Amino acid sequence: MRTIVAGNWKMNTDRASAEALVDALVKATAPPAQVDVVIAPPFPFLALAVEKTRGTRIIVAAQNCHEAAHGAYTGEVSASMLKSIGVRACIVGHSERRQYFGESDAVIGQKIAALLAQDITPIFCCGERKDERESGRHFDVVTEQLKGALGTFTNEQLMQVVIAYEPVWAIGTGLTATAQQAQDMHAHIRACLHTHGGQVAATVPVLYGGSCKPDNAEGLFAMPDVNGGLIGGASLDAGQFLELIRIAGGEEWSRSRAG
Ligand code: 13P
Repeated sequence: MRTIVAGNWKMNTDRASAEALVDALVKATAPPAQVDVVIAPPFPFLALAVEKTRGTRIIVAAQNCHEAAHGAYTGEVSASMLKSIGVRACIVGHSERRQYFGESDAVIGQKIAALLAQDITPIFCCGERKDERESGRHFDVVTEQLKGALGTFTNEQLMQVVIAYEPVWAIGTGLTATAQQAQDMHAHIRACLHTHGGQVAATVPVLYGGSCKPDNAEGLFAMPDVNGGLIGGASLDAGQFLELIRIAGGEEWSRSRAG
């Protein structure tokens, strides 16, 4: 399976710093062949990111979209608008949107449907809160999120989705899930996908997110069910983000550099 390193810039950067960050990534050596690199800048900088990354292997993603195709939804952005400027992926269901904007799994499922209709890759986020882990309910919570948001899709559709496991207690806190905690949840997610058949389980990448940084990524990315990372803070620093891409490339990257 391919490895994905995705940067979620959240509500950070301005025009100048967004441009500088994209420029630094574009100028760097091409990513290892089996690594897909995704950046998710804020809405106002998506078009410039698409322009600047044209002809490179960097995929530009949005951080959210509205579930409706168009209409009287002041302040919202539709999947077709994203499509029309060349955006190819979109994060949905991030815990910050669940927490601050009340997004439910049902609405997140509708957003995924809207994205799939435009052939945009949804990056679906799931993950438990601290209290849910402490009470031992974390596997059940994630199962419910998967069922609630992805339960109605066909296998064909599911195979277009990327899942990001982001334990809420690890986001922006400096606390990272241990590689084993991540692997255990990713294996659980893989087992949930398996209820839709082996092909779905073998196709859908499951990324880890939550204080993933160059100094802890190696252990996380080495886990068999971890297919890369969704990176917050460290994606705002070109040096750190490039280092994460290098780590995700593992062996092949070292070989291609040596060669
Ligand atoms: P941090 O890497 O800053 O913890 O953020 C993770 C995240 O929420 C990515 O979507």
